[in-house]
Amino acid sequence: MEKIRHVAIIMDGNGRWAKARGKIRTEGHFKGVEVVRDIAIAAKERGIEVLTLYAFSTENWKRSSEEVGYLMKLPALFFSRYLKELMEKNIRITMIGSLDGVPKDTAQILRKAMEQTRNNTAMTLNFAMNYGSRREITEAARAYAAEVASGKIANDCTEEQFEQYLMTAGLPPVDLCIRTSKEYRLSNFLLWQLAYAELIFVDVLWPDFTSDTLDECLLEFQRRDRRFGGAK
Ligand code: IPE
Ligand code: IPE
Ligand code: MG
Repeated sequence: MEKIRHVAIIMDGNGRWAKARGKIRTEGHFKGVEVVRDIAIAAKERGIEVLTLYAFSTENWKRSSEEVGYLMKLPALFFSRYLKELMEKNIRITMIGSLDGVPKDTAQILRKAMEQTRNNTAMTLNFAMNYGSRREITEAARAYAAEVASGKIANDCTEEQFEQYLMTAGLPPVDLCIRTSKEYRLSNFLLWQLAYAELIFVDVLWPDFTSDTLDECLLEFQRRDRRFGGAK
């Protein structure tokens, strides 16, 4: 059986889920928070080492101030409800992206959750928060260039060395990326890291995603033949 260490999910479709029920978009986000908890626990129980969840993109600032404001409150909702349980389940919280522009209280809640769970070892629940892959790669290039300019290192880095400048440094490679809600694009998510990941697109909207949907995806992953450019 193909070992699966790192799963990444583009949690999409909250707005459409709400709309289909005659609710406002934020009600879809509210339901989505509960699903994050369920899927984090399910992933841990299935032995996944890292679950990276796309929570807010650098492009999501384009939404109405009401919606952005609501999305920024979700970490408070999530951790006030579930931090205790995540602690008990020995789950570590980490983040990629940037807290720049994120409201101070939200940033503080995220920092506290990361700090409190930093020694947990059962699974890493990694939130992509105010994350954009192009920004990540640009910042990595700038950090690398600055070290070259200062004479600290030579301008000869390999792919493996360059990866250490990305926000995912230290995490295992992404094996599988799932996107919900019948959209077939990456929306600036982990562009470097997904180079050889398996991609699965499901019709299910994120608020309807369950551990059964996760299991179907894991089963589909097992049916894939990962060749990494080789032949067999
Ligand atoms: C995903 O659901 C949540 C975020 C992007 C923050 P959407 O809000 O994008 O829902 P749709 O795609 O409009 O249905
Ligand atoms: C991607 O979903 C971002 C997150 C899930 C956080 P979007 O709904 O923002 O993506 P687009 O706009 O459909 O590409
Ligand atoms: Mg969307």
